[in-house]
Amino acid sequence: MTQRLAGKRALVTGGASGIGLAIVKAFREEGARVVVGDQCASADDAEFVAMDVSDWDSVQRVVGEVGLVDVLVNCAGIMHVGKLHEVDPADYDRIQAVNARGTFLCCRAVIDGMLAAGRGNIINLASVASLIAVERRFAYCVSKGAVLALTRAIAVDYAGQGIRANAICPGTVDTPMIRGYVDKYFGDDVAGTIASLHARQPVGRMGRVEEIAALAVYLASDESAFLTGAAIPIDGGWTAK
Ligand SMILES: NC(=O)c1ccc[n+]([C@@H]2O[C@H](COP(=O)([O-])OP(=O)(O)OC[C@H]3O[C@@H](n4cnc5c(N)ncnc54)[C@H](O)[C@@H]3O)[C@@H](O)[C@H]2O)c1
Repeated sequence: MTQRLAGKRALVTGGASGIGLAIVKAFREEGARVVVGDQCASADDAEFVAMDVSDWDSVQRVVGEVGLVDVLVNCAGIMHVGKLHEVDPADYDRIQAVNARGTFLCCRAVIDGMLAAGRGNIINLASVASLIAVERRFAYCVSKGAVLALTRAIAVDYAGQGIRANAICPGTVDTPMIRGYVDKYFGDDVAGTIASLHARQPVGRMGRVEEIAALAVYLASDESAFLTGAAIPIDGGWTAK
């Protein structure tokens, strides 16, 4: 069978863990050449480059090394739990720096090459928190709202130049990020919190990383050529309620 991403070169930020790691595997299975950019080293990945998406010098260096990027997946992200009155301004700044500004910086770094090539594809990991307010995720909601807004702005500005941009908006997906913040913020009731994280999707469970990666493959492939500027919920029905 024809590989759906044959000949494409991809950069996946946050590709050392969780959803990003699943996207890296799925892209490679479909024939893409994938560079993994992450602040944490990926075990035994020959195509790993260390990067901090919140640092412009770091992002420029990595994109300079990779060369032309056909598909950029912005998956690096961090979580914060708290309502407005619980948010320390320094934590707020860090969330925006990684999730929102980091996505901007990576898009900014690849866009000149995409314009010169006359083609390009940007896939941003937004969230249901881009579409609805998720309780006690104030700073995260703000950051993911920005990710969706910048995705749409890029899609509209470059639709005539062969460049697409789409946002994946997952519900709760079982990853190290989820397990990490449950331990950090809900350590007194880990089992009960995990159960509630399953239950908030109408299908009654968290998503699996492979399910998100399958959507990313479709968005990265030419099958989705007519799709740009979209915010695609993949959330077990959460935002349909
Ligand atoms: N897991 C979920 O329920 C869920 C839901 C909606 C959206 N998302 C989004 O999907 C993306 C991936 O989430 P995940 O759950 O797989 O998380 P994860 O913690 O498993 O993976 C995130 C990766 O990003 C990397 N990273 C963090 N900050 C970075 C930085 N400054 N520079 C470079 N790399 C950095 C981490 O090292 C890690 O490898 C995130 O953007 C997250 O907000 C996750």
